[in-house]
Formats: sequence, C-alpha cells, structure tokens
Amino acid sequence: MAETPSIFSGVALVGSGSATPTQSLSNDQLGSRVDTNDTWIRTRTGIEARRLIGADETLTSLCCKAGANAIAMSGWEPESIDLILLATSTPDDLFGSAPEIQAKLGAKNAVAFDLTAACSGFLFSLVTAAQFLKNGSFKRALVIGADQLSSWVDWSDRRTCVLFGDGAGALTLETTNTSKEGILGFQLKTDGSRGNCLNLKQKERRESLLDGISHQVGGYEPIQMNGQEVYKFAVREVPAILETLLKRTNTDPKHLDWMLLHQANQRILDAVADRFDIPHSKVLSNLANYGNTSAATIPLMLDEAVKDGRIKPGHLIATSGFGAGLSWGAALVRWQGPD
Ligand code: ACO
Repeated sequence: MAETPSIFSGVALVGSGSATPTQSLSNDQLGSRVDTNDTWIRTRTGIEARRLIGADETLTSLCCKAGANAIAMSGWEPESIDLILLATSTPDDLFGSAPEIQAKLGAKNAVAFDLTAACSGFLFSLVTAAQFLKNGSFKRALVIGADQLSSWVDWSDRRTCVLFGDGAGALTLETTNTSKEGILGFQLKTDGSRGNCLNLKQKERRESLLDGISHQVGGYEPIQMNGQEVYKFAVREVPAILETLLKRTNTDPKHLDWMLLHQANQRILDAVADRFDIPHSKVLSNLANYGNTSAATIPLMLDEAVKDGRIKPGHLIATSGFGAGLSWGAALVRWQGPD
C-alpha cells in the first residue's frame, strides 16, 4: 500500500490506453448471416462495424494491452500502482480477471478486483477508484473498462446482435493537490425495478445430485433486451443526470469542451446534444467503428480523442454511462494528461 498522502487530496486523470480486437465485422457481412442490412443498422444506430475477439486474443489480453498503454503514457513503473479496478460483465474468469491482469502487468503492489455494472461499469469504477485516492488510502490507480459481449449475444437475433462489439480501454488516476482536481463532481443511480429491460441471466437448469437435493448448472442465456424501453430510458435519464451534475457543479454546458457518453446509439448521442443545445460535433463518437463495447466505450473513446489531439490538457468533459441494472451515472472531469 502507498504511503498515506495528505487526506482529501485531488485526483488527476493522467494517462489513457485502449485495445481492440483485430477481427472486424461489417454491417454487410452481418447481413449475409441474419435478416438485417447496412442501411437499417446505420440509420437506426450509427454503427458500421464492430470488432470481435478472435482465436488468438482474450478479454484479459486486451485489458493488459490497454492497461500497459495507459501506464506507459503516465510514465509510471507498474510497481507504483496501488489499485487496479476492472469494470466488466464478461470476465474470462468468473472469480475475477483483475488479478491475472495485475500479475501480467507486473503491478505486484496493487490490489486488483472486478466491478460489475454493465455499461455503467467504467463510470462506477472511475468514481470508486477516485474515492480510495481522495481519502488517502491509495496514490495511484488503473481503471480498465472491457467487455466481450460477442460471447453473449444471440447471433440469430437481429434486434441485439447488430449493436455490440468487444474492446478495452483504460485510464490512470493519481492523487494531486486540489487545484488540479480532475473529478469535479459525480452522480450515480440504479433502478433495479426496471432491470428486466436488459439482462444476461443465468440459465434455469437444475440437475439432481442426490434424492431431494439438486443444484443449478452454470451457464447463461444470451442477452435479452427491450430496445425501445432502454432507448426511452437513455434519452430521458442521461440528460436529466447531466443537468443535475452541471447545476450542482455550477457549470454552463457551453463551457464544456466535450461530452463523452456511453456509445450505444448515435441517435441517443444526438438527442443529448440537442437537449443541451450544443453542436453534435462536441459529443465524441466512435461507435461507427466499434458498436457498443459496454464497459469499454468511454475509455476507448477517451483514449482515441487524447491520442488524436482532440482532448487536450485542461479540457473539461461531461461524461455519462448507462445500461443494464438499470444503472446510470455522470461525472464532470478535467483531463490533465502526463506531466
Ligand atoms: N435489421 C433490420 N430490421 C430490424 C433490426 C435489424 N437489425 N432490428 C429490428 N428491426 C425491425 C423490427 O423488427 C421492427 O420491424 P416491425 O416494425 O416490422 O416490427 C423495426 O425494425 C423497428 O424496430 P424498433 O425496435 O422499433 O427499432 P428502433 O428504432 O427502436 O431501434 C434499437 C432499435 C436500435 C435497438 C434502439 O431501440 C436502441 O438503440 N435502443 C437502445 C439499446 C441500447 O442502448 N442497449 C444497450 C444498453 S447498454 C448495456 O448495458 C449493455
């Protein structure tokens, strides 16, 4: 564990990284397998292609690549990391994949664990990691968001299979003095009563063990989603939570450099931009290339925009994630980048 720094310090966002599978699947290719087509997918979602983890890759290998990338950008030694949080709903190991990532990265002093909150997972993990830093428990954290939903969609169900892809993104956080604060506010929400809109549920399959004693057999149903309900939820709750966050932090939407939202559907991104009367170009979007990569979308998009120079040190970003649970959240962050 790191030496305890001054209590209630600030948290700086210093490095980013990402990794996507090499296999790409276009809308046209998908259309040769299920009853869908490029025009429908592009006009209803904005998605043109998605990446799928291939035979020579795993979710863990993508996480290690994304994590190593972010550590390198930060100029850190892996041994200096105190905490690794992996946001995922699809770990390679149900007991948690973060420990294997810790070992492979050589981050031997870090405590490492998984956190599950579907597409809100990265945002929830970012806020969780920041609390450990702010209360003085840790100095440096690596937060990874990654998912492999290609394993869990029904590839014959055109209502869901066109939407998702695989990927990983990572962000490093470090304690700093409060004048350089990188997490200026956050809001997190859950409404379990609406959870049946979007599920990846265990199969109901029991086997008898002995007379009168049975057990559940492990295994999951493919993703089940009520697309219209999830769409309505997103266009109602994402602007609402952002509005609350901006009000509480005294931030005029016009002063934001970027909005960085969960990449689920271009129509959702555009609706949020319209609600705040900001140009669509200020809402970062890369879902055309990757589809919805669940917990990975926000750090994947962040890393792309940092690397191509759109996001610059000092930029103010309103970010929001939403998805299964139902769960949703928002954070107002300032990108610092490496020293
Ligand atoms: N190709 C062609 N036609 C299709 C397809 C497809 N892939 N999918 C549906 N259709 C058809 C339907 O059958 C329907 O036909 P009908 O009118 O003859 O019955 C028609 O298109 C319209 O279907 P809708 O479901 O009304 O289409 P909609 O415009 O709502 O778009 C979509 C569907 C894209 C799923 C949208 O509702 C959406 O984006 N919802 C949000 C989903 C989401 O973000 N999920 C992830 C959350 S994150 C997480 O936690 C994993």
